[in-house]
Amino acid sequence: MSVDLAVENLNKRFGGILAVNGAGLRVASGTIHGIIGPNGAGKTTLFNLIAGSFLPDSGRILLGARDITALTPERRCALGLARTFQIPRPFSGLDLLDNVAIGCLGRARTVGHARQLAHEVLESLGIGRYADTLASALPIGLRKMLEVARAVATAPKLLLLDEVMGGLHGDEVDRMIETIRRINATGVTVVMIEHVLPAIMSLAAQVTVLDQGRILCSGTPEAVTQDPAVIAAYLGDEVLA
Ligand SMILES: Nc1ncnc2c1ncn2[C@@H]1O[C@H](COP(=O)(O)OP(=O)(O)OP(=O)(O)O)[C@@H](O)[C@H]1O
Ligand SMILES: [Mg+2]
Repeated sequence: MSVDLAVENLNKRFGGILAVNGAGLRVASGTIHGIIGPNGAGKTTLFNLIAGSFLPDSGRILLGARDITALTPERRCALGLARTFQIPRPFSGLDLLDNVAIGCLGRARTVGHARQLAHEVLESLGIGRYADTLASALPIGLRKMLEVARAVATAPKLLLLDEVMGGLHGDEVDRMIETIRRINATGVTVVMIEHVLPAIMSLAAQVTVLDQGRILCSGTPEAVTQDPAVIAAYLGDEVLA
């Protein structure tokens, strides 16, 4: 099994809170890996450490065979790592195309070339007809789609998605599931944090459960959702409902 991402014994403390506590993770190349867990479990912090927004207090992060633990976010991006933000961060005064073109600049020869690449990204995600719409005018479903498009724009090998289905309705969720499936089919490894469990169940080969900074368990979606510890920590209300 070739591993795209390995996280080893990672720790991050904020004052009195151990937000990530001895976390370990292995993600096989070309797979979709889900991360679930209650609010405040440390999921976004884990992504911030993998993407380089924060440095860990201890532990290691490997992208393929390469130790990226201390690299800047820009270097990690150049090595093929992209992430979305839980709260979308578009340039609201720019249209959809230029938002995505900025993400393409790193692999474009000119601004015109970046716009051409951005068109291709928008078409591949099925949102080409909104190219001229201002980001500030986009409804939530398209804002989430833009967040994914900006990450895809960098042509990543490994894509980190932080709750890209949060706040979406039924058909928007279905469209996002289909989009993630299509991105993955082009060979991109995906790690996705998600509270929308049916999406995780239908997409992820493996799921890791975080609780209070610790990895509670990892396994197939079926095994993980039947684990008594997971039901107690996270799924309790849902199972009872
Ligand atoms: N920059 C920060 N400074 C201080 N504390 C932080 C910071 N970022 C996160 N935390 C704390 O770390 C813990 C984990 O937060 P994190 O955002 O990683 O959780 P999460 O699992 O992504 O939750 P959610 O499902 O609500 O998005 C929380 O207690 C949070 O308040
Ligand atoms: Mg979060």
